[in-house]
Amino acid sequence: MNRVICSIVISLALAAVALAVPSGKIIEFNNSPMGLVKFDGDLHKEAGGKCKDCHNDAMFPKMKQGSITISMEEIYAGRLCGVCHNGERAFDAKGNCDRCHIKQ
Ligand code: HEC
Ligand code: HEC
Ligand code: HEC
Repeated sequence: MNRVICSIVISLALAAVALAVPSGKIIEFNNSPMGLVKFDGDLHKEAGGKCKDCHNDAMFPKMKQGSITISMEEIYAGRLCGVCHNGERAFDAKGNCDRCHIKQ
């Protein structure tokens, strides 16, 4: 019985690793007139982001793309991506549009 539980725990842990945004996954947000935004999981992992830094109740509670609507108003107010992209933890969103938005 313990063995079964143990292997369930292990496979859940492996599944989480396999699904992680950081393992080579790039999420594309393509609803903005400013152009596509590519969110690179590996890059954010290297930048020191732990899952909980972003996947918490105040930011992106669900590990599912599209569960949160991102707007510049939120970002400028220091929420969502703006928790870091404020010129302190990472480059400021204001004035750096094309570091996130790719013109098509
Ligand atoms: C720098 C912020 C950040 C970090 C750190 C981060 N994530 Fe995410 N993750 C996001 C965002 C943003 C989304 C998209 C959420 C949305 O669109 O509502 C996302 C989505 C996901 C998804 C869904 C992907 C899909 O295709 O739908 C999974 C799974 C996920 N994250 C797992 C993880 C795991 C596991 C970790 C830690 C190893 C992690 N994330 C770290 C920001 C982050
Ligand atoms: C936990 C902090 C954190 C959060 C939250 C975060 N980022 Fe970042 N991001 C960083 C850091 C650190 C870098 C590395 C560049 C730097 O230091 O300015 C980075 C780099 C980037 C880059 C690379 C730009 C370039 O020119 O190299 C893009 C694009 C980006 N982030 C988009 C996003 C988007 C979109 C979101 C929200 C969905 C987001 N980030 C949320 C910390 C964060
Ligand atoms: C840190 C990354 C980042 C930077 C820098 C950034 N944006 Fe965005 N922006 C996003 C994300 C993510 C979305 C959501 C896109 C989606 O849902 O498809 C978005 C959405 C938008 C939208 C549509 C939604 C809204 O709020 O109106 C506009 C317009 C926009 N950005 C303009 C800009 C301008 C102008 C700049 C520079 C002054 C800028 N962005 C800089 C990440 C960024």
